[in-house]
Amino acid sequence: MCGIVGYTGQLQAAPVLLNGLKHLEYRGYDSAGIAVLNDGAIEMTKTSGKVDALIEKVQEIGGMPGISGIGHTRWATHGVPNEVNAHPHLSQDGRFAIVHNGIIENFAVLRKELEDKGVVFRSETDTEVIVQLLGIYYEGDIKKALLRTVSRLEGSYALGVLSSDEPGTLYAARVASPLIIGIGAGENFFASDITALISHTKNVIDMDDGEIAEITPDRITVFDHAGREIKKEERYVSWDVASAEKNGYDHFMLKEIMEQPASLKAAIEPRIRAGAIVFDELDLDMKKYDRVMITACGSAYHAAVVGKYLIQKLCRIPVDAEVASELRYEDAVIDERTLAIVISQSGETADTIAAMKKCKDAGASVLAIVNVVGSTIAKLADSVIYTWAGPEIAVATTKGYTTQVAVLSMFAVWAAHETGRMDEALFKKMTADIRLIPKLAQRALDLNARVKKLAEKYHDQPSLFFIGRNLDYAVCLEGSLKLKEISYIHSEAYAAGELKHGTIALIEPGRLVVALCCYEELFDKTVSNIQQVKARGADVLAVAPEGNRRIFAEANASLPVPRTDPNLVPVIEIIPLQLFAYYVAKRNGCDIDKPKNLAKSVTVE
Ligand code: F6R
Repeated sequence: MCGIVGYTGQLQAAPVLLNGLKHLEYRGYDSAGIAVLNDGAIEMTKTSGKVDALIEKVQEIGGMPGISGIGHTRWATHGVPNEVNAHPHLSQDGRFAIVHNGIIENFAVLRKELEDKGVVFRSETDTEVIVQLLGIYYEGDIKKALLRTVSRLEGSYALGVLSSDEPGTLYAARVASPLIIGIGAGENFFASDITALISHTKNVIDMDDGEIAEITPDRITVFDHAGREIKKEERYVSWDVASAEKNGYDHFMLKEIMEQPASLKAAIEPRIRAGAIVFDELDLDMKKYDRVMITACGSAYHAAVVGKYLIQKLCRIPVDAEVASELRYEDAVIDERTLAIVISQSGETADTIAAMKKCKDAGASVLAIVNVVGSTIAKLADSVIYTWAGPEIAVATTKGYTTQVAVLSMFAVWAAHETGRMDEALFKKMTADIRLIPKLAQRALDLNARVKKLAEKYHDQPSLFFIGRNLDYAVCLEGSLKLKEISYIHSEAYAAGELKHGTIALIEPGRLVVALCCYEELFDKTVSNIQQVKARGADVLAVAPEGNRRIFAEANASLPVPRTDPNLVPVIEIIPLQLFAYYVAKRNGCDIDKPKNLAKSVTVE
């Protein structure tokens, strides 16, 4: 959570840092701050609230001159989000300022130790122990003091350090939190991710765990934990500047919903050759596995549930989908005959990383489905399928999720063919159907105006249900989460057949039930459940394939989605639900791209 950025070069640092923080705000937005070196002294401006509040504050004081500095946007873990707890934090002697993303697990012990030495803490944060340690250990060599400091830390960190003793030089360090160095001409940067830097450079160095970097305008030197210089590869980032901007849309979320035909094409097309699905990146012998364990968090977990239904059905192999925060502490049966599939847009989610390590330790092969290239999960996995969704800025995932589902669908079909469970004719037919998904997604987006009207009608529901069976149920999980996380309306996803076992007591006249009916194998069963809730006065909004007259006669309102193979419905079916959540939240005046209490990249447990 939290985003960090650093700049050293010839430009004024403050505008570069503030612009970088705007692009990192999706990582956390409850307080923010920057520190700039001006005439050999560290000057800081901090505020509670969003980066815009910080920008205003910097303008009010007439700007902050200086050509090197560091910045931070926060998602509070230790201490309330006020100005004092906002980063950067200063060492007692004012010589060092630090920004930090991550959690220092042994901070209480370190704080006590430092207080016993007479250090007076200003904030309640875990971060402050880092900068105070640095101040104590410093004897004229920052690199040495930083290495000693990080050797004392337990937990996760991406750190940026500014010092009045070395104008123009920044230091950065990482363990288990994302950190890249941006390479410019006569200027260099660090940041939590490329979106903060993309308007300046696309050439980056990925920092690995245990490394520290010394960054001047002309030189970047990376050292290992023992202080030995190491050679790092440069990486060129293919994302373009426009993809990290709103481009005329009111919100990143709407832009990203609308981008789905393009992102799905990027995920699908390169993997289809001569009418067959090809994963050049995989070297897996699918026959080796007698079990698949899929793990992830949040929406990525909902994609995992789709994957479970599909892989199980098409490959005839037992598949579990487990929430990563549960799997990491479970006594699950995993061994070398298990294929663990780990799904993550950011590739940095702490629980997912822990669950993945657990699977690896138990002998499983780990396949990661990830969007962010070079992320921790991508690096730790045995093999990676990138989703190629491009940068996703809105906190609520849309194209991140649909590209995950598209890749899982392709994987299920590919694996079924590899293991001899799917004959050539069906393989070719399903491949052709998958190829059509981007076009169908575009047609699903044509429901935009209709969804907007429905959102107008139903925006003031106090609570609602999403019901469906099998793949429809998997999509209910995601449709319900989308609505609640950005509109703050309570909603529940229910397996349609389960409602009558208790929860139906909550159905009352006027309550909206969104019924997903695209998985046609179980259509009649879902219709019975629709009749049950209608009999109790509920309003039913049906999402069903175009031309399905029966369902549209049953429901109070409907969203007809383009027809496809029933196994491929989730990608298409979720699109009107994303739009529904978006327009309900917009109608209710919610902060759509930055919902309260959330952050996009959840790097804490
Ligand atoms: C919801 C959402 C989250 C993420 C979850 C996992 O819209 O975005 O539920 O899906 O935090 O994140 P990743 O995919 O980055 O591991």
